[in-house]
Amino acid sequence: MKLPNYKEAAKREKKDYKTVRYELDQNFSDKYSGKTYFLKTYGCQMNERDSETIKAMLEELGFHEVDDYKNADLVLLNTCSIRENAHNKAFGMLGRLKHQKEQNKDLIIGLCGCMAQEQGVVDSILNDYKFVNFVFGTHNMHRLPVILNEAVTKQKQEIEVFAKEEDLIEEMPVKRDNDYKAFVNIIYGCDKFCTYCIVPYTRGGQRSRKKEDILKEIEELVSLGYKEITLLGQNVNAYGKDLYEEYSLGELLEDTSKTNIPRIRFMTSHPWDFTDKMVEILEKYPNIMPSVHLPVQSGSSKVLKLMGRKYTRESYLELFHKLKKSVPNISISTDIIVGFPSEEEEDFEETLSLVKECKFDNAFTFIFSPRENTPAAKLEDKTSLEEKERRLHKLNELVNGYFLENNKKLVDQNVIVLTEGKSEKKNDYYYGYNEYNKLVNFKSDKDIKPGELVSVKIVDAKTWSLDGEANE
Ligand code: SAH
Ligand code: SF4
Ligand code: F3S
Repeated sequence: MKLPNYKEAAKREKKDYKTVRYELDQNFSDKYSGKTYFLKTYGCQMNERDSETIKAMLEELGFHEVDDYKNADLVLLNTCSIRENAHNKAFGMLGRLKHQKEQNKDLIIGLCGCMAQEQGVVDSILNDYKFVNFVFGTHNMHRLPVILNEAVTKQKQEIEVFAKEEDLIEEMPVKRDNDYKAFVNIIYGCDKFCTYCIVPYTRGGQRSRKKEDILKEIEELVSLGYKEITLLGQNVNAYGKDLYEEYSLGELLEDTSKTNIPRIRFMTSHPWDFTDKMVEILEKYPNIMPSVHLPVQSGSSKVLKLMGRKYTRESYLELFHKLKKSVPNISISTDIIVGFPSEEEEDFEETLSLVKECKFDNAFTFIFSPRENTPAAKLEDKTSLEEKERRLHKLNELVNGYFLENNKKLVDQNVIVLTEGKSEKKNDYYYGYNEYNKLVNFKSDKDIKPGELVSVKIVDAKTWSLDGEANE
């Protein structure tokens, strides 16, 4: 048994990470032929991308996927720790699985992802969720075939969670969810330690993948006909810092641009590391989409300081306006937390005034959720939940208004839509996302396939989407 450990997880040492190539032990190949699995993914794009690898690993073992857990021989939950409700969802699902296991005692249940890296979660799995067969963490996903085999052959709970990151594993298999849009990891972990955030503990230290491995993956995707890639990391702007003297996200974006993939996106960008070079690159390369996710978290410099974000309201606004000025029509989305400990009414008002100035194209808003062992969870918090809910509601009303206002600016303009599919409700209607990452529903008499890039004239704007007509 290997258990998570917060103290270890919080340590950061300068270290050269070895790159190791994944290889399946041939004894396990097709071992579970004819068996079925159900994989449920919670959380962010990092987890979605991990699930694509987990699926491929399970299929190499002979499993095939089903879309109802009630028909599965193996159920695996890829979990998220970011807020309390992500926890509650996963534990709720475990409750249903307990019931399912009472009816089918051969059901195998596994838990992985960020929650597996939490000491408290693993303690309760050990004590109160004994029906869970196996647990593995974010650092040892590649060990899934071995861990599953141990759990099945030894018929006892198998818990293997590496407290710290180890080698960088390359060439793990992947079963992509989409045939024309793909996620490409460029950096794992996070060293920022924002005081409210659990990710540096669940995902470990910042490790960049070698540029050759990233570009090889992108070139393969281009040759398979992929149209869009998103370079992924908790803070992509830190790319390369742990690996190269003079190769950062800017250079990686330039090299990615030259692969001629039609569309490039990247997320998430911490405002602290956003350089002028990055702004130039966004301006220069047309296949890098004019759309940036730039989480601000709060409009109050006092709160930002307590959050450990290391920028101020003023420096955020400076960067924001530089981007708006340099990249024509750029869309900027954000994340905002309300109710951080010691956020007073006047701090919240500063958040509202920043939103009024930025008029974000999209915003994900949250109530602060204290996470086990993080510094912010220990701060005194006098604001009631009712007050926090009031702030969230007020903020949401404000941000939603700007979504509509921004969308209206696109009416009568031509955009390029990467088609995702056909509308189920309306004949001759298709949907997809434009350059600015906005959902567009559009009419066309032609038979358009998912993955096609279509020029569309926008005819109407709604809060969450745009309506358009395909140009001939
Ligand atoms: N790496 C990204 C954020 C990843 S988490 C970044 O730094 O921008 C996504 C969002 O969840 C964060 O931007 C933040 O707004 C929110 N979040 C993270 N921890 C939270 C917490 N403890 N309570 C409420 N929201 C949180
Ligand atoms: Fe969390 Fe901050 Fe790292 Fe983002 S940058 S993952 S919010 S610690
Ligand atoms: Fe959640 Fe882990 Fe992502 S905590 S947001 S799944 S990195």
